[in-house]
Amino acid sequence: MISRMQGNAQNSLEVYEVISMINMIVAIGKNREIGRGNELLAHIPEDLKYFKKRTSGSIVIMGYNTYESLPFGALPKRENIVITRKDIDIPKAHVVSSIEAAVEKAKALQDNHEVFVIGGASIYEQFLPHASKLFITHIFEDFKDADTYFPSFEDEWKIQSIDGSSENIGHDYPHVFAVYERK
Ligand SMILES: NC(=O)c1ccc[n+]([C@@H]2O[C@H](COP(=O)([O-])OP(=O)(O)OC[C@H]3O[C@@H](n4cnc5c(N)ncnc54)[C@H](OP(=O)(O)O)[C@@H]3O)[C@@H](O)[C@H]2O)c1
Repeated sequence: MISRMQGNAQNSLEVYEVISMINMIVAIGKNREIGRGNELLAHIPEDLKYFKKRTSGSIVIMGYNTYESLPFGALPKRENIVITRKDIDIPKAHVVSSIEAAVEKAKALQDNHEVFVIGGASIYEQFLPHASKLFITHIFEDFKDADTYFPSFEDEWKIQSIDGSSENIGHDYPHVFAVYERK
């Protein structure tokens, strides 16, 4: 389904209140690094599987750069919402021109779907104040050449659960899957 929704002047807080839960999902390095040259920092099959499992059947909200970074376009088995100021249509995605319009669209589609904000940096930054839960894959690596970062969150969020098998820890890129809730 292809659609386009214009941004509007509605009070943004009012708009966010209609969504029961906004989740964010991200993989970060030791310094909250998330990307380089509009790509991910590392190929971690376990993390891609985790991402797929968590987000399948959900609504995913992303910025245009993140959409462009996807190798096969819109993500299957999910309602894709892409935020851009460009006047374009995107196959199998809902295109919106503001974060408020993204939330409005998610609300219209919701019908028991969960909502996941999937990046990138600018979109995480704008949604973080409105998020209820963070699904963060911590990669224990310093990515020196990163050029995009997840916003600072540590002061306002605490770990709810953490999961990582010996396989994750023994991986070329050791990592764990953490879920955060607000303090
Ligand atoms: N590690 C992870 O888990 C993870 C996840 C996702 C992404 N990433 C990485 O993050 C990087 C991309 O992040 P990014 O910050 O450069 O890009 P982004 O957030 O994906 O997209 C930025 C674009 O979104 C649109 N946009 C943002 N805010 C908007 C607003 N309020 N209203 C209308 N449009 C808006 C603009 O598109 P237009 O310019 O088209 O108007 C803007 O240029 C890549 O390296 C990617 O691989 C990492």
